[in-house]
Amino acid sequence: MAMLDNKIGLVLGVANKRSIAWACAKACAAEGARMAFTYQAERLKETVDELAGTLNDSLVVPCDVSEQETLDAAIDAVKQRYGRLDFIVHSIAFAPKEALEGEFVNTSRDAFRMALEISAYSLTQVARAALPLMTEGGSIVTMSYYGAEKVVMNYNVMGVAKSALESSTRYLAADLGKDNIRVNAISAGPINTLSARGVRGMGSLLGYVGERSPLKRNVTADEVGNTALFLISDLASGITGETIYVDCGYHIMGI
Ligand SMILES: NC(=O)c1ccc[n+]([C@@H]2O[C@H](COP(=O)([O-])OP(=O)(O)OC[C@H]3O[C@@H](n4cnc5c(N)ncnc54)[C@H](O)[C@@H]3O)[C@@H](O)[C@H]2O)c1
Repeated sequence: MAMLDNKIGLVLGVANKRSIAWACAKACAAEGARMAFTYQAERLKETVDELAGTLNDSLVVPCDVSEQETLDAAIDAVKQRYGRLDFIVHSIAFAPKEALEGEFVNTSRDAFRMALEISAYSLTQVARAALPLMTEGGSIVTMSYYGAEKVVMNYNVMGVAKSALESSTRYLAADLGKDNIRVNAISAGPINTLSARGVRGMGSLLGYVGERSPLKRNVTADEVGNTALFLISDLASGITGETIYVDCGYHIMGI
């Protein structure tokens, strides 16, 4: 029997085949999971449809977390189709481009609010909306980054949002543990995706981290996907509220 046979998932954050969310979905599908996918905007629908179409019994629904009614409709569609939910991959983030370059001190109120709302609050928002469907326990996994705890040039307000996301992971884990729902974050090393390209200087960051990490390379989206599979599976049944680094060891290095 495969690790996720009879498990139903909701995957938020597939934009294209390079998305970390897609790597997570591939790993889970290989272990028997069936999944619903959300796309944020109409321009992404065709790509998400195509990717999800390669998997068994998938569902594709719109959801922009800044519009609560779209999330409610997505959860409703999952309920109609599958009747319940066992896991969630939350792999979404956004900050205005001008907030991801230059000095953090110049972050506008609007950019701060938007980054925190979409990149951090949405985890709590999605967990609450999905809770009635997670009747048999489950696992929620979100994506963080090292900029949550150390200053990374140009990452700026997204670092603050990731701090809030990791803290939210712990608070949610404490709340939802009684329902046998585990909540964990993966702190992934830099990967060349659509969102990553929005951070100024991403190319040189990849080079820097690749040279200095213990494994002397950058992590791949598939490695992050495999860790998400582990956290979702029963192999991680004793782990909750944790942030697991999948960064080729970069975060352990001092000088
Ligand atoms: N790529 C990296 O280097 C890296 C490293 C660590 C963590 N992460 C995190 O991984 C997650 C996935 O990013 P990615 O690198 O795969 O890039 P990506 O661009 O493929 O995925 C980001 C997703 O967020 C979605 N999104 C943005 N605003 C949204 C909204 N309002 N409602 C719903 N969805 C919205 C986008 O549609 C997109 O699908 C993000 O949280 C990111 O911060 C990325």
